[in-house]
Amino acid sequence: GPQQQLTVNFIDHLGKKITVPVKEGQNMLQLVQKHSLNFPGFGACKGSLACCTCHLILDKEVFQKLDPVSENELDMLDLTCGVTATSRLGCQLCMTKDMDKQNIWVPKGVTESYTPQ
Ligand code: FES
Repeated sequence: GPQQQLTVNFIDHLGKKITVPVKEGQNMLQLVQKHSLNFPGFGACKGSLACCTCHLILDKEVFQKLDPVSENELDMLDLTCGVTATSRLGCQLCMTKDMDKQNIWVPKGVTESYTPQ
């Protein structure tokens, strides 16, 4: 049957809240691109797990309900500027029902940590 309509609230680098509709399983980087959200420098490596500009910060309660983070994502998070205990990389994160109506923070200064090779 039709998928249930979920939403997430991105809190951008300026503190502005942007609510977008999202389907279960939708990749967060692709969601940002689909809605042309203006997060400067976001997703610089286009999801190849080589930059960390897609850094997102979740609520602790939401973070804990998600599947464990992969080794490859953890390795890149180690290099991520301003990483927190509830940080994820957007290109590795897909929508779940537990994320419905929740806030997802886009940290400041993501562009400063990435230099294209
Ligand atoms: Fe580069 Fe996610 S877009 S690691």
